[in-house]
Amino acid sequence: MALSWEQSMTTGVARIDVQHQELIRKVNGLMDAMRNGKGKDEVEKLLGFLAEYTLKHFADEEAEMDRAKCSAAMTNRLAHQQFVRKFNQLREQIKAQGVTPPIILAVQKDLVDWVATHIRGEDTRLAACVKAATPASVA
Ligand SMILES: [Fe+2]
Repeated sequence: MALSWEQSMTTGVARIDVQHQELIRKVNGLMDAMRNGKGKDEVEKLLGFLAEYTLKHFADEEAEMDRAKCSAAMTNRLAHQQFVRKFNQLREQIKAQGVTPPIILAVQKDLVDWVATHIRGEDTRLAACVKAATPASVA
């Protein structure tokens, strides 16, 4: 089943939520292409777009966490690094072996499921930090 963005994924920063929605669209598109037997070239192209987008998004999100002095910043940064390593491994595997059923399963677990768990687990911690960092308006 395709992943969808839900209210429970709110980070308190609108542009980060918009980026998450786009990220989800991209991982869903990648899964669709793989499941529907699109050629290796097409899948590699989508992986390229996803790699580029992910790096930009991670950098933006890390900057937001730093700005809000979020205690989750380091955990989040490390999780992003792990993701990038895993992503590159999968990309290499696809390059070498093409799209195989075990790789489809690995992409589902290590990319798609990871994105959902990560947004809910780490990224949503940004919401409280942003709230705490924003001075209450003076009445
Ligand atoms: Fe994150």
